[in-house]
Amino acid sequence: MKTSRRNFLKATSALAFPTIIPASAIGADGTVAPSNRITMGAVGWGMQGPGNIGAFMNVPGCQVIAACDLDKRHLEQAVNAIDNKNGNKDCAAIKDYRELMARKDVDTVMLAVPDHWHALIAIEAAKNGKDIYGEKPLARTIREQQAIVRAVLENKRVWQTGSWQRSNDNFRVGAEIVRNGLIGKLKEVHVGLPSGHADFAGTASKNQVTPPPAELDWEMWIGPSTMEDYIEGRVHKNWRWNYNTGGGQLLDWIGHHCDIAHWGMDCDKGGGPVEIEGSGEFPAKTAMWNTATKYRAEAKYDSGVKMIIAGGHGDIRGGTRWIGEEGWVQVDRGFFDCSNPAYKKIIKERRGDQIAEKAIHQELPDDLRKVQLMKSPTGHQGNFIDCVRSRAETLTPVTTAHRSAIPGHLALIAMMTGRKIKWDPAKEEIIGDEEASKLMGREYRAPWKIA
Ligand SMILES: NC(=O)c1ccc[n+]([C@@H]2O[C@H](COP(=O)([O-])OP(=O)(O)OC[C@H]3O[C@@H](n4cnc5c(N)ncnc54)[C@H](O)[C@@H]3O)[C@@H](O)[C@H]2O)c1
Repeated sequence: MKTSRRNFLKATSALAFPTIIPASAIGADGTVAPSNRITMGAVGWGMQGPGNIGAFMNVPGCQVIAACDLDKRHLEQAVNAIDNKNGNKDCAAIKDYRELMARKDVDTVMLAVPDHWHALIAIEAAKNGKDIYGEKPLARTIREQQAIVRAVLENKRVWQTGSWQRSNDNFRVGAEIVRNGLIGKLKEVHVGLPSGHADFAGTASKNQVTPPPAELDWEMWIGPSTMEDYIEGRVHKNWRWNYNTGGGQLLDWIGHHCDIAHWGMDCDKGGGPVEIEGSGEFPAKTAMWNTATKYRAEAKYDSGVKMIIAGGHGDIRGGTRWIGEEGWVQVDRGFFDCSNPAYKKIIKERRGDQIAEKAIHQELPDDLRKVQLMKSPTGHQGNFIDCVRSRAETLTPVTTAHRSAIPGHLALIAMMTGRKIKWDPAKEEIIGDEEASKLMGREYRAPWKIA
């Protein structure tokens, strides 16, 4: 309910009101009135959750009031951090996400849980009327992604994906150069991703079966995935290197650099790959970390554009590279370069004892900027809260995240079957390959199922 300052004063003037009205309650000090606050619950306090919530707690009018994690140690850290920032002891501590979703005082949720949990939690959130900031990739499989999209659209929820690169100007300007035809007709796109495995949790040597720690609900952590013995090196942060719970470097990064590739290719609302083939180097299935360490896939889009997705291949640089008939653009975190000197600025930068030249992006002049991609003046988290208020589409809505991750899922299926996969981007089905189609989903361990 919105109460303007004038209405608030009018409505209260007839009451025996204390002479001092706290300014913060009516917005005079620049803070948002309590009735205008967007409340948030945080689910998952591992590597990404704290950063996301840190940013949300700095968005005016966003108030984090609840935290949920099934590891008691992480839940405690979450509650402490949130209470510290809020200057109170009010943050609710919740172990089971279903309890959080059922709360009527929570408007929005931030989801930063391992990929094997994305679908169940996001769908529960959507059905309970929460607006959702959810992490990339949209889910562990294409079928789960489709189920999330349905739930979000049916329940008319606002969704922002954690593909925050879209909120950075160097990526946007790169995509705008392509969308405005400034490198000519697009021919080829490179999506360069990391290779190997990164020991994010420092648990590479913890590869023995042990009892799970008392603070962690192991049965719940495995959730819908196949039950396996507890091996510490496979759990927090490093779950992404085990196909039972994650999708390796390929799926960990596809929602970043392929998301940017699609922005430039104008694939957010339609179009997509029609065939894809790929190969990868896989450790033994039984290895603690069994996801592909090196991989390469080539997709043909319905537009005729060729996309190469690769990790660990020296000819494909990290980030996104668009190649047109008249030039190219390359973007990555902290990196921008393009073939046409008119669209970049050269700056000098100190590297050790040396001064080196470096290209950075610059805004296109208005006359070349016929297609204007969305800017993000309030940041990725701010854009979500803005859209929760306005009900407008965010920078990375659920359908965009779905499309951005599909080439990664298809590449993995092609690598696993060793076959060329044909894809119908409109129907979202694999054509004429039953075995490959089965890999679009996965069996859920009882009692978990997608409702
Ligand atoms: N946008 C980015 O740049 C970025 C960066 C890193 C990770 N991520 C994404 O964030 C998500 C989380 O990754 P992470 O590295 O933080 O993982 P993590 O393992 O470090 O943290 C996940 C947390 O979720 C908790 N959890 C697991 N299942 C749960 C459940 N059912 N209910 C409540 N809590 C549960 C775990 O106990 C853990 O604290 C992934 O989807 C990942 O791809 C995004």
